[in-house]
Amino acid sequence: MDGGTLAILIREDDEDDGLEVADLESTEELGSDGVGREAVFMRVPAAPDEVVVLVGTRLQRLLGRTKARACVHRVVGPGQNHAEDRMPSFLYSQFFVRPSYPEQSFADQTVLVTGANVGLGLEAARHVVRLGAARVILAVRNVPAGEEAKKNIETSTGRRVCEVWEVDLASYKSVVSFGDRIAQLPRLDAAILNAAVATRNFEVAEGFERTITVNVVSTLLLSLFVLPVLKATKKKIPESQPRLTFVVSEVHAWVGLPEWKSDNILQTLSNQSTAKMSERYPLSKLLEVLLVQELAGRVRGSEVIINMINPGLCHSALGREGGLSFYLFKLILARSTEVGSRTLVAGISAGLESHGAYMSDGHVENTAFSQFVRSDEGRQARLKLWDEVSAILEAVRPGIMQNV
Ligand SMILES: NC(=O)c1ccc[n+]([C@@H]2O[C@H](COP(=O)([O-])OP(=O)(O)OC[C@H]3O[C@@H](n4cnc5c(N)ncnc54)[C@H](OP(=O)(O)O)[C@@H]3O)[C@@H](O)[C@H]2O)c1
Repeated sequence: MDGGTLAILIREDDEDDGLEVADLESTEELGSDGVGREAVFMRVPAAPDEVVVLVGTRLQRLLGRTKARACVHRVVGPGQNHAEDRMPSFLYSQFFVRPSYPEQSFADQTVLVTGANVGLGLEAARHVVRLGAARVILAVRNVPAGEEAKKNIETSTGRRVCEVWEVDLASYKSVVSFGDRIAQLPRLDAAILNAAVATRNFEVAEGFERTITVNVVSTLLLSLFVLPVLKATKKKIPESQPRLTFVVSEVHAWVGLPEWKSDNILQTLSNQSTAKMSERYPLSKLLEVLLVQELAGRVRGSEVIINMINPGLCHSALGREGGLSFYLFKLILARSTEVGSRTLVAGISAGLESHGAYMSDGHVENTAFSQFVRSDEGRQARLKLWDEVSAILEAVRPGIMQNV
């Protein structure tokens, strides 16, 4: 990993923080981030593989230190991907942007949220219930945890509109039987496909490494069961605007996909002896981004708006395997789960401009797609991946690709 980058963020307006540029050694100023006047970003070539985040009083409060070098976190290796391009705007969003509190009504609507027992899914479901939805399906793999979440939402909102439905994305059988149940719904206005796993343990589910199966293949499979019900709702209730939102992530830009040139992308990624599990979660999000782009390109937004949202770094159960450094990193940078969940609700509230788009901080931000996703190579990879995954899904449920 050569040419390491330190991204340093200093709030210039913070009189109390006692930090000045002069406190930093060996730095070369890059200048303002061009987004807001509060931030300055700097590059320190001598420190590979690290990001330093300096936020005066907040840092002091959290760590009880006063000086710049108090807070050093390993986050990503620059040079091999595009993380460094996105780091300034990532930090800017985490520190200075608070997505708007959701206010749009969901009255009369039926809304599905996967992974709704905990984390962002739970908080998004709570918003949707508060905003008047008639029926909210909490799709969970752990039914008792789902029932707990349902009770929790009912207590906080005073509304009894949640149902707990079981689905395990590590099992095609489970997704298919969930999908067949979804097909019976008289209406479905919005679906947030939020459930995902982040693990460094290599396990196989349905013939592929489990992260790939859960975050990518089964998520697309589920979307193809949901899509006809959303389309039918539009036909039945022309004034409705069905939406399908995928929860992706900023980290899709932190990895490349050289494997796209192999004979079989997912099989290659599922080879235990070569799988880089430290990059597996970001990679799964990259695959998801590519597939959602392709899916949206094949569906008319006037029928169903399909978008993908990046919630930013948020507190949730997702980083449970992340260890102490990730815990500290989150302590300083992460949004609360509720604040992060607003971006999910923004996805199922967004207009036609969001069709096929990437949303960050609650609004369309297509420049945040990684360079790879936007490149011609990315387009070729997307088409190859689509064909590959289509064949897998056809084998699971013959004819399902006609739902697109
Ligand atoms: N938190 C962040 O900083 C962040 C940043 C960017 C993107 N995201 C994305 O946000 C979404 C929600 O994540 P979160 O942060 O809220 O994480 P979380 O608290 O870990 O929630 C993940 C949810 O997915 C469910 N899930 C995992 N494996 C499943 C499976 N095989 N079948 C069905 N459900 C399964 C989990 O169920 P169990 O409780 O049973 O495990 C849980 O309900 C994910 O798509 C994640 O990639 C999160």
